[in-house]
Parts: sequence; structure tokens; C-alpha cells
Amino acid sequence: MTNEFVFATNNTNKLKEVWEIASGKFKIICPADIGHEGELPEEQTTLEGNALQKARFISEKFGINCFADDTGLEVEALNGEPGVYSARYAGEGRSAKDNINKLLLELKDCPNRNARFRTVVALILDDKEYFFEGIVEGKITETLRGENGFGYDPVFVPNSFDETFAELPAEIKNKISHRAMAMEKLFYFLRHHQE
Ligand code: IMP
Repeated sequence: MTNEFVFATNNTNKLKEVWEIASGKFKIICPADIGHEGELPEEQTTLEGNALQKARFISEKFGINCFADDTGLEVEALNGEPGVYSARYAGEGRSAKDNINKLLLELKDCPNRNARFRTVVALILDDKEYFFEGIVEGKITETLRGENGFGYDPVFVPNSFDETFAELPAEIKNKISHRAMAMEKLFYFLRHHQE
């Protein structure tokens, strides 16, 4: 089995995070490295569907083993919303701050603040498809706290912590995050698949 995989993402932060998790055991490259510039398709209504669509797109176009991820914030009192629509909760092209403001408004006076981040990774390996999931449970705060991270980090406190993801140092977030957990499962699978 080859040790080289394309991570179907244009997000350089995610790429760096995954390089650290792969810790030199696998060579992870991005679409630009194989000549693909531009957006990746993400038109499905589930995290699994979007992750698979991105991975299939690159795998079919270049005939190469590939994986992709998709993440959503699932809020219990909102029946799992914004979920797959987390990036554009306040509308197409709106900012992370707009998304947070909408979320806090929806949860105004709501005592149930339970929420989770869920990441799904889809892997295409020798024409077979595999899925890996990472979940972090936590609570939505009443106000924004912290400057680190991105997206909903200023309003999400992971269970067993007092700080929001935006207050925690990146090294800690990247160890316990939904994405880190899904990627750890992916690389565990790949290491054992080779044996
Ligand atoms: P993506 O699928 O990783 O691009 O994530 C979709 C959206 O979910 C992002 O645009 C963010 O709004 C949100 N999101 C994903 N991961 C995180 C995270 O680690 N912290 C905060 N928000 C996140």
C-alpha cells in the first residue's frame, strides 16, 4: 500500500494539524500539490455526504487514494442545528461572528446549552470507502470568550474544561478536538491496514 494520501481540503490550518497527527508516518499532500486549484464540491445534506463527495471528487479525477473531512456544531435544544450548515448558519457569505450571534439569539433564555462538534472523515482507499467520526461534547456559553481558534470556538466550552475553545491554547484544542479524534482514528486504521 502506498504511504501517500491526498487530504481534499484547501484549508492550510487543517493540513498542518493533520501533518502533526500523521507524524511523518504518512505523506499527506493537498489538492494543489497534484494540480487541482479551486473549490471542492460540498452539496450534500449530511456531514458524511459532504466528506465523501470531496474525497470522491479528487479520487476520481486523479485516480489517487484520498480523504476529506466535514464538521458541524450540533446543538441539542435546536434538534442538531446548525449541523451540516454550520459555516453558513446566518446565511451565505456571512461571518463567523454573524453565525455566533444567530446561535446565541436562538438559544436566548434556553437553559439547555448542550452541544457537540462532530467531524466525519471519509477515506477512499483502493476504491473502497471508509468513515471515521470524532465528537467533542460541551456547552454553549451566554457570551463570547477568547481570541484563539475560529468559527464557534468563542462560545463552546468542552466538557471537563472551564475555558472556551477560543480561550484554550491551540496545543490543547488540537489534542482533544473532534477533528483530531477523527484523524487519529483514520491514522490508526491506516497503520493497522498495512500490517
Ligand atoms: P468544516 O467542515 O471543517 O469546514 O467546518 C464547517 C464549519 O463548522 C466551520 O465553518 C465552522 O463554522 C464550524 N467549525 C468546524 N470546526 C470548528 C472548530 O474546531 N471550532 C469552531 N467551529 C468549527
